[in-house]
Amino acid sequence: MREMYAKRVQGVEGAQSEMSLIPLGVYSHYKGNQYEVIGFAKHSETLEDMVVYKALYGERGTWVRPLSMWDNPIETGGKIVKRFEYADKAEQKSYRICEIDNALREKVQPILDETWGSPLLAVNGKLWDSKAMPGFVAVSVTSNIENYEVLGYLLYEFHDGVCEIMVLESVAQNIGIATSLMEQVKKIAKLGGVCKVIVQTSNDNTHAFRFYQRRGFTIREIRLGALDTARQLKPSIPLVGEDDIPLRDEIEFEIGV
Ligand SMILES: CC(C)(COP(=O)(O)OP(=O)(O)OC[C@H]1O[C@@H](n2cnc3c(N)ncnc32)[C@H](O)[C@@H]1OP(=O)(O)O)[C@@H](O)C(=O)NCCC(=O)NCCS
Repeated sequence: MREMYAKRVQGVEGAQSEMSLIPLGVYSHYKGNQYEVIGFAKHSETLEDMVVYKALYGERGTWVRPLSMWDNPIETGGKIVKRFEYADKAEQKSYRICEIDNALREKVQPILDETWGSPLLAVNGKLWDSKAMPGFVAVSVTSNIENYEVLGYLLYEFHDGVCEIMVLESVAQNIGIATSLMEQVKKIAKLGGVCKVIVQTSNDNTHAFRFYQRRGFTIREIRLGALDTARQLKPSIPLVGEDDIPLRDEIEFEIGV
């Protein structure tokens, strides 16, 4: 599976959109140490695609390496092995978490538009356009790379000294997808130099209250009547939500990272 990803990546010159098809996560170096791939970048002079990764030992330094050289074969002890072999526990799961790119966004956007009524998200008194937001996508692990499915997504924004989860949805629930997406955004928040991840939800979403609090979030603010204001910005927000509960208030949660 991963070889297929790599081949596809190598075949696309300078295409940022293809890069994140190499899964984020833990890799074993052929000499035994472990590293975590935490993101992707472009070389500012050559535009070459680079992998950004962190040592999971010693001083835990952060490194970059050309994507094209990521898992090129190495001869050791008379055997040909990969320089880096995917070792993340996610390998055992039915999904992988990838950084969103153009191809994934094309698959995510129709799901998002249907669930939230449009690409515009009304959050904390403002309309936010989801179409260019950074984020992560859970994709199914299939034997055919072309047929993968989106199983969940999380989009975020850095603003006002926090990292805010702007939208989170799991298409395949109760298999750990939202938890994995959450772990990924917490890492990004830390790397981005903020100390809090925040997220807001509506007063009817008792499942989300449970989900966030079970993962260590605490209530940061309750904005009474916020959905009446949000409805003026986005009239498609319904009057009634889950379990026939009138949609009125926003509850904001936070967690330290
Ligand atoms: C809230 C929401 C994002 C949770 O997503 P999810 O992918 O089902 O969440 P997870 O699978 O990570 O966790 C849900 C439960 O499944 C459990 N679980 C995880 N992996 C599991 C597995 N392999 N087998 C059985 N249960 C598992 C988790 O432990 C968790 O239960 P807990 O809270 O009692 O610990 C999802 O319900 C959703 O998309 N709701 C609609 C949109 C929404 O409300 N978004 C959030 C507000 S903006």
